[in-house]
Amino acid sequence: MSYASRRQAFMDKMQGGVAIFHSAPEFLRSGGHNIEISYRQDSDFYYLTGFTEPETICVLVPEHPEHHFILFVRPRDPQMEVWTGKRAGVEGAQETYGADAAYTLDQLAEKLPEYLKGCQTLYYNSGTEHAFDEQMIAFINRFRRAMSGGPRQVVDPGSILNEMRVVKDAEELEVMRKAAQVSGAAYRDVLKALKPGMYEYEIQAVLDYGYLKQGAARHGYSPIVGSGPNATILHYDQNNRHMQDGELLLIDSAAEYQYYSADITRTYPINGRFTPEQRAIYEIVLEAEEACIAATKPGADLADIHNTAIEILTSGLVALGILKGDVQQNIEEKTYRQFYMHGTCHWLGLDVHDRGPYRVTEKGRQAELAPGMVFTIEPGIYIAEDAENVDPRYRGIGVRIEDNVVVTQDGCEVTTGSAPKSIEEIEVLMGGR
Ligand code: GLY
Ligand code: MN
Ligand code: MN
Repeated sequence: MSYASRRQAFMDKMQGGVAIFHSAPEFLRSGGHNIEISYRQDSDFYYLTGFTEPETICVLVPEHPEHHFILFVRPRDPQMEVWTGKRAGVEGAQETYGADAAYTLDQLAEKLPEYLKGCQTLYYNSGTEHAFDEQMIAFINRFRRAMSGGPRQVVDPGSILNEMRVVKDAEELEVMRKAAQVSGAAYRDVLKALKPGMYEYEIQAVLDYGYLKQGAARHGYSPIVGSGPNATILHYDQNNRHMQDGELLLIDSAAEYQYYSADITRTYPINGRFTPEQRAIYEIVLEAEEACIAATKPGADLADIHNTAIEILTSGLVALGILKGDVQQNIEEKTYRQFYMHGTCHWLGLDVHDRGPYRVTEKGRQAELAPGMVFTIEPGIYIAEDAENVDPRYRGIGVRIEDNVVVTQDGCEVTTGSAPKSIEEIEVLMGGR
């Protein structure tokens, strides 16, 4: 589907009115010296326009006689372009990006009210660009003072976009498969490099190089490279520990490729061999992960998959004596939460925690899975170093395994299979070191 078809689909779902989107803000790295943090377009903005420049406003007006898609952009400026690169300008906005009308940003105050005239409903996501929020409120107030029929209500465009973005079209799926393959290949490089005595950041560097050399733009999110007890810290990202023989390394990292992110976790033994205790925990998590993949099909929902993970993780922990008593009772009393304290799935796409329906519906269910939806499956077990109620042999072990799946007509496709995860494959590829 092209950007034009996405805009049309969005406008078809609007109840008339006007939608306004602002490009992502630019951030300076340090005060006042024009050194910006590498720019990334806002995901909704990119989804609807493919336009990647900052300081841009997109206006969609389904009921306008001629202009349904309007861009306000930075003007061409040969002097500035020497510093920051070519701009599309007004001509490019129309010719390359298909705007029905395009203006420079300084024409906003003059032109925008013309499109807002007679608009009852304004679709606008406030709260991310405060200066622009104020400008929008000023426009609305101007209409109200003049009593000349400006917007009566402001609606979050996410009420339409969340549902659109959760089902990926064929082009998006191709890019997402590529993001997954690029990431998986870097995990294979990690298996070649990993050995005791390295620092966590050296493994991060292997990942960085692996992604960038294959054309990925950046990491999809801050990489977690946590060895030994750091594997039990869910959002660890210092990545600076000296890795020891006999420990596990948990890596949660993936590439962003053409704006779409993968999201992978693997847990590897640093010396190439799992200890019996590490293996026991790993096998439980892998069994849970594979059962969740098998449970993914149209008609199921993310809560079903989470419950599948909880059942297997809890019964595994009971079998090892880490949880005591009856499995069902442990599930009811949520005792597993000491060792598994996060969700199993989230939507994936332009954002690593992508837009989509997360909430439980009135019928007590989450959105039913349908072909083209992409999400993660990521069960884990984390036994803190100081978990005094646990046999000391298991303390400080953290294992998570995370794959990405696309829902198909009768099940799912795992896109991240190229990152090794079976014990046999890991141990053979590492060959003991
Ligand atoms: N990497 C973030 C997550 O797994 O949710
Ligand atoms: Mn992850
Ligand atoms: Mn994830």
